Amino acid sequence: MIKKSILAISGSTREKSTNLNLIYAIKELAKDIFDIEIFNEIANLPQFNPDLDIDPAPQTISVFRKKVKQADGVLICTPEYAMGVPGTLKNAIDWTVSSAEFSKKPVALITASSMGEKAHASLLETLKIIECNITDDTQLLISFAQTKINSDAMITDNETLEQVKKLIFSFSKLAGNE
Ligand SMILES: Cc1cc2nc3c(=O)[nH]c(=O)nc-3n(C[C@H](O)[C@H](O)[C@H](O)COP(=O)(O)O)c2cc1C
Repeated sequence: MIKKSILAISGSTREKSTNLNLIYAIKELAKDIFDIEIFNEIANLPQFNPDLDIDPAPQTISVFRKKVKQADGVLICTPEYAMGVPGTLKNAIDWTVSSAEFSKKPVALITASSMGEKAHASLLETLKIIECNITDDTQLLISFAQTKINSDAMITDNETLEQVKKLIFSFSKLAGNE
């Protein structure tokens, strides 16, 4: 089987982020089916401004757009901040609205947070309006995430581990694996 290329984005830019550890856990669990590249530059993208959303786009934006476009699928893992989507993540997505790299793109979304419902719902709305290919089976809310994913990138909660494995299977099919 040819491995699918997946671009992974953590909505947390924290060094010891639970969401980043979750991405590492998924990278290991799915190593036979996915080549996961972690895009860890979202904090370095300029603030979205429609006046700058012209051709040529800022260099960092061109790189980000190209990586999304070329990936077979995009995995987003994010916390919730103040009942919403972290600004750096929303900023990155806003840069793709006019250029439409996410349109029809297979996407998996995991919100791993203390609670996370509001950010998860909000991000689903955003992903819907930019026409991502996301299904009920490729989205997951993990509340109390810091008690379920450890700093060694292990999912220590069995139910969560099973949910993540199911999501990987569904995402793999969505991204084109039989
Ligand atoms: C400024 C700030 C605001 C937060 N607000 C929320 C919130 O509204 N809802 C929630 O579930 N967690 C909230 N949290 C907790 C984080 O989601 C939680 O610590 C999460 O594990 C952080 O993800 P990370 O480990 O990937 O950085 C907040 C954390 C910070 C620093």
